[in-house]
Amino acid sequence: MSIYTTEGAVTITCHKHMMPYLEQEVTALGYTVDETFVTGVKLRASVNACIRLNLNLRCASQVLYSLKSFRAFNADEVYRNLVDFPWEDLIPEAGNFSITSNVKNDTINNGMFANLRVKDAIIDRIREKRGTRPSTGAALTGAVIHLFWKNETAEVFVDTSGESLARHGYRKIPGQAPMLESLAAATVYATRWDRTSPFVNPMCGSGTLAIEAAMIATNRRPGLFRTNYAFMHLTGYDEQVYFDEDAKLEEQITEVPGLRIIATDYSERAIENAKKNAIAAGVAGMIDFSVCDFADTEIPPDVPGIFFVNPEYGERLGEVNELAETYGRIGDFMKKKCGGYFGYVFTGNLELAKKIGLKAKRRIEFYTSTIDCRLLEYELYSGTRDTGKLPLNTPI
Ligand SMILES: C[S@@+](CC[C@H](N)C(=O)[O-])C[C@H]1O[C@@H](n2cnc3c(N)ncnc32)[C@H](O)[C@@H]1O
Repeated sequence: MSIYTTEGAVTITCHKHMMPYLEQEVTALGYTVDETFVTGVKLRASVNACIRLNLNLRCASQVLYSLKSFRAFNADEVYRNLVDFPWEDLIPEAGNFSITSNVKNDTINNGMFANLRVKDAIIDRIREKRGTRPSTGAALTGAVIHLFWKNETAEVFVDTSGESLARHGYRKIPGQAPMLESLAAATVYATRWDRTSPFVNPMCGSGTLAIEAAMIATNRRPGLFRTNYAFMHLTGYDEQVYFDEDAKLEEQITEVPGLRIIATDYSERAIENAKKNAIAAGVAGMIDFSVCDFADTEIPPDVPGIFFVNPEYGERLGEVNELAETYGRIGDFMKKKCGGYFGYVFTGNLELAKKIGLKAKRRIEFYTSTIDCRLLEYELYSGTRDTGKLPLNTPI
């Protein structure tokens, strides 16, 4: 039995609050989601199908193919449950593997110990069958085995991704406080942007939002920028399956003539970096970059457009006081200059958000690795221009 062609239980993980967008992406690729949970979705798929998921998903972190579920009260039971598993059929002789885990069990105060017991089980089994010890390491560049262990419930997976899919691989220069690419993509999805009207992104920093918007509009997938995945390092891998999926990524790119994506920042360095990142992502020609205060950003008259800012949140008091004025100016600018647009402010500071002084129509929850955030949506009316209607269910 090859895991590449045999359907099994697959769990796709994502960051908190991104599951609805991940679910829509998975469904749009033609798969049926059986179950959702706070940080992911579950479905049935083969590892060959996981190849497609890895290359295409923007909102995912890891695509995990389940090998075995069992009950374990302590780390020795994890070992006992795994030492009989036929690891020699999965991990090639010349290959190497690493272990990752998500552990919450009272008998363990260091997840590394659980990893060690999984590693021991795999090595002991392979040494017994082959007489040689496979090589292991911390880098996620070879095969990756993942342990999920909560209370007494344990499940062991092949992690088909390795390095997290949340980074999309094109950003070479992060700049200050960049958004994670998967988060930026999810927030663009959350705007329900129709992908043909203007997308205006002042305070663009390293350009993540504008670049993700350009990639979404033209159907450029993260797999275009990545050449190594953990699924490539297991016995039975047929590289033709990957080559075929990879070729499809190029074929499915669609250009959108006349699309306006505008990205500005008052920092020259930020714009330089954002341009380099956009070049790496292959979308530099689609984005008009300029250096200016956000309030001097061009707002094309075509409506409905999207105005999207991600201002700093501020950690120290002095910064927060200064930012209060900036948030107030953002509110004024949206009200006076963005009539007919939908305005979005992504922030981790809800006190500062109050300074915007406009009533948010939707407050969409998100989470960075450390902080609860909101994407605030404002419907911006104007005396002369009616707010156009964004299609409320733009397919992902
Ligand atoms: C939190 S960062 C944006 C990060 C961005 N989303 C990314 O992924 O890289 C905020 C950006 O706003 C810019 N900024 C702050 N105040 C500004 C102003 N008044 N006008 C224009 N840009 C401003 C900063 O230079 C910084 O790049």
